[in-house]
Amino acid sequence: MTALSRLKELLWILATVGVVAIVVRLLGGLGAVTDLSDTMPWGMWKIFNMVAGVAIATGGFALAATVYVFKLERFRPVLKPAVVIAFLGYGSSCFALVMDIGLPHAFYKPIIFWNHHSFLFEVAWCVMLYFSVTALEVAPTVLEQHGLHKLVRLLHRVTLPLVIVGITLSSLHHTSLGSLFVAMPARLHPLWFTSWLPWLFILSAVGSGIFMVIAVTLAYGRLYRRPVDLSMLGRLGSAGAVILGLYLIGKILDLVLRGELRALVSGQWEEGFFVAELLLGAVIPIVLVALPRARRSAAGLATAACSAVAGTLLNRLNVGITGLVRTAGASYFPSLAEIALSVGAFAAAALVFFYLVENYRVFENTPAREHLAALEGDVKNSDAMGRVWALGPMASRTRISLVVVVAASAALGLFSTDALEGMELRRTPVQAPRGVDATRSVLALNGDRDEDVVLFPHETHKQKLGGQQSCPKCHHQNLPHDEASACHGCHADMALKTSIFNHASHVARLNDKWSCTQCHEPNRPKNHGNSKPCADCHHEDMGLEASAAGYDYRARSYTDAMHGQCMGCHQRQDEKNGTRMAECGFCHRHQKPVTPGAQKAVSLRTGGTGR
Ligand code: HEC
Ligand code: HEC
Ligand code: HEC
Ligand code: HEC
Ligand code: HEC
Ligand code: HEC
Repeated sequence: MTALSRLKELLWILATVGVVAIVVRLLGGLGAVTDLSDTMPWGMWKIFNMVAGVAIATGGFALAATVYVFKLERFRPVLKPAVVIAFLGYGSSCFALVMDIGLPHAFYKPIIFWNHHSFLFEVAWCVMLYFSVTALEVAPTVLEQHGLHKLVRLLHRVTLPLVIVGITLSSLHHTSLGSLFVAMPARLHPLWFTSWLPWLFILSAVGSGIFMVIAVTLAYGRLYRRPVDLSMLGRLGSAGAVILGLYLIGKILDLVLRGELRALVSGQWEEGFFVAELLLGAVIPIVLVALPRARRSAAGLATAACSAVAGTLLNRLNVGITGLVRTAGASYFPSLAEIALSVGAFAAAALVFFYLVENYRVFENTPAREHLAALEGDVKNSDAMGRVWALGPMASRTRISLVVVVAASAALGLFSTDALEGMELRRTPVQAPRGVDATRSVLALNGDRDEDVVLFPHETHKQKLGGQQSCPKCHHQNLPHDEASACHGCHADMALKTSIFNHASHVARLNDKWSCTQCHEPNRPKNHGNSKPCADCHHEDMGLEASAAGYDYRARSYTDAMHGQCMGCHQRQDEKNGTRMAECGFCHRHQKPVTPGAQKAVSLRTGGTGR
C-alpha cells in the first residue's frame, strides 16, 4: 500500500467518526455533547472550523485576484487548486457552523430576517454568497469533463465579475470576522485585542492562504508522484512572505502604539501562545523563504507553508478561545465529540479534494487512470500484514468500506453519552386504569388498552397491608404535595423509561431565565452532571431521600414497575405462606393464557429497559 491509500484510510476513519459525532450532536443537543458554557460559548466548531478554516482557504480569492485582475499568468497552474481549496474550505466551515448554531434547521433565517446591526449577519451573508461564488468558479472544471460546453462558456463569460464579487465578499467577511472580536474589549486579552483586528485578519488570511495553496500543491506532487514547478511555488512563497511580513510589522506596531509591549513580559501564560503564533505564522516562513536554498527546495517550502498555516490557525484559536479564558474565569477544552466533528469536517473536505483531483483537471498534470490504480495498491501485493489479514488482494473500495464500518462502531462506543441513551424509540403511552366498580375498589390495569387486562383489588390490598399506613408500601414516590400519586403518571410508557423531570416547567416555576443558576452552577456546562440534586428541593414534598444525590429520575417502564412491585411482594408472600401468587396466571387470569411467546416478549422488553 502506498502513502496515498494509507492517508485516505485515515481520512475515512476521521470522517466517519465525525459523522457519528454529528448524529450524537443532533440527537443530544449542544449542551449534552459539547463543553461550551455561557462564558465560553464559542468553541472548536466556530473558531477552529469557521474563523480559522476560512482563513487558510483564502488562497482562492488571493490567486483569483493575482491571475484575473493583476494578470500574472505565471500563477495560473495553481489557480484551479486554490479555488477548489476555497470551495472546500468554505463548504466545510459552513457545515461546521450549521452544527454549531442551536437549531441547525434554522440556518437559512438570516436570509429572511435581516438584522443589519449584527456582524454575524454580515458574516453569514458573505460566507453563504462567497461559498456560492466558489461553487460557480469550480463548476467549469467539473462540467467541462461531462461535455456541458455551452454552460461552461456561459460561466467563463461571467468569470471576471464573479471573481470581483468574490474578492469583495471575501475581504468584507474577513474584516467582519475581525470586527466580531473588536466588539468585546472587556473580554479579549490585551495581547490580541486591537481595533486593527480586521486588517490583521485579512493580511494573515491572504498570506497563509497562499501558503496553504503551496502546501497542498507540494502534497499533491508527493502523494501522486507528479512533478511540480518549484520555481513558480518559490515565487508564490515570496509573495506570501511579503504579506506575512506586513502582518508581522502590523502586529508589532500595534503593540507598540497601544503601549501593550509590556504585556509581552508580564509573566502571564498567554504570552507563550502569542509568541508561538508569531514565530509559526510569520517569522519562520519569512526566514525560510528568504533563504534561497530553502526556497528552492520542496522540503524548505513545505516547512514554511505548514508553519504559516499552523501559525494562522493558532492565531484564530488565540483570538477566539485562548484570549477569552482569563476574563471568562472558566476554562474550556473541547469534548471528544467536538474534536471529532472538527477534524471530521477537515477529513471529509480532504477526501472530496482527492476525488476532484483524481477525476477532474484540477491540476494541469492530472494523473492517468493506470497511474492511479498503481498508487491505490489495487494491484495484488502481499506484504506480511496483507497475508495475515487477507488485505493484499482487496480492492480499495472494499478496504474502505471495512474501515468505515469499524470506525463507525468504535465511535459509537466512544460517544455513548446521554445523547445516545435519549434516542427515542417508538413510545407506547400508558392510560389510566379503569374502575371495575363504582368506588374503584378494584382497578382494571391495562396501560396499552390491549386484550391483556390485570384486575388489581386496590381496596383489598390497602386492608391487608395496614389500612391508611399501607400507601407508601406501593406509592414509593409521589408528585409534589400528593399523598399517593397514580403510578402511570410517572411510569408513563409501557416499555420504555420516562423522565419525570420536566425542564420547561421547572424553568417556568423558578422564575424563567433567572432560574438557571438555581440548579446549574455558573461557568460550567449545563447538563445532567452539573445540576442540583432533586432532593435538595423535593425532600419534603416528594419524599425523596436527602442523600439521593445521584438519583435516577427516569422512571422505568409501566410493565417493569408493575412486575417489580407486584411480583416482588407476592414472591415474599409465597416464601412465607407457600402460596403461588407470583405465577403469571395469578394476575393474568382474565384473558387467554400467557404463552411462552408472551414470556419471551416480556423478557425482551424488560431486558432493554430494566436495571
Ligand atoms: C403479581 C401480578 C403479576 C404477575 C405474577 C405477572 N404479571 Fe405480567 N403484568 C402485571 C401487570 C399489573 C401488568 C400491566 C398490565 C397492563 O397494563 O396491561 C403486567 C403486564 C404484563 C405484560 C405486558 C402486557 C401488555 O399489555 O403489554 C406481559 C407480556 C406480562 N405481564 C407477562 C407476564 C408473564 C410472562 C408473567 C409470568 C412470568 C407475568 N406477567 C406475571 C402483573 C403481573
Ligand atoms: C399494593 C400496592 C398499593 C397500595 C398498598 C396502595 N396502592 Fe394506590 N395504587 C396502586 C396501584 C398499582 C394503582 C394503579 C396505578 C396506575 O395504574 O396508575 C394505584 C392507584 C391509586 C390511586 C389512583 C386511583 C384511581 O382510581 O385511578 C390513588 C388515589 C391511590 N392509589 C391511593 C392510595 C392510597 C391513599 C393508599 C393508601 C391508603 C394506596 N393507594 C395504597 C397500588 C397500591
Ligand atoms: C412521582 C413519580 C413516580 C410515581 C408516582 C411512581 N413512581 Fe415508581 N419510580 C419512579 C422513579 C423516578 C423511579 C426510578 C428511581 C428509583 O429507583 O427510585 C421509580 C422506580 C420504580 C420501581 C423500581 C424500584 C427499584 O428499586 O428498582 C418500581 C417497581 C416502581 N417504581 C413502581 C411504582 C409503582 C407500582 C407505582 C404506583 C403505585 C409507582 N412506582 C409510582 C417514579 C415514580
Ligand atoms: C430545577 C433545576 C433546573 C433549572 C432551574 C434549570 N435546569 Fe437545566 N437541567 C437540569 C437537569 C436536571 C438537567 C439534566 C436533564 C436530563 O438529563 O434530562 C438539565 C439539563 C440542561 C441542559 C442540557 C439539556 C439537553 O437536553 O441537552 C441545558 C442546555 C440546560 N439544562 C440549560 C438550562 C438553562 C438555560 C436554564 C435556565 C433558563 C436551566 N437549564 C434551568 C436542571 C435544571
Ligand atoms: C431548585 C429547586 C428544584 C429542584 C432542584 C428540582 N425541582 Fe422539581 N419542582 C420544583 C418546584 C418549585 C416545583 C413546583 C412544585 C409545586 O407544584 O408545588 C417542582 C415540581 C416538580 C414536579 C411536578 C411536575 C412538574 O414538573 O411541574 C416534579 C415531578 C419534579 N419537580 C421533579 C423534579 C426532579 C426529578 C428533580 C431533579 C432532577 C427536580 N424536580 C429538581 C423545584 C425544584
Ligand atoms: C406489598 C405487597 C403486595 C404488593 C406490592 C402487591 N400485592 Fe397483591 N396481594 C398481596 C397480599 C398480601 C395479597 C393477599 C393474599 C391473601 O389473600 O391473603 C394479595 C392478593 C392479590 C390478589 C388476589 C386478591 C384476591 O383476593 O383475589 C391479586 C389479584 C393481586 N394481589 C394482584 C396484585 C397486583 C396486580 C399487584 C401490583 C399492582 C399487587 N398485587 C401488588 C400483597 C401485595
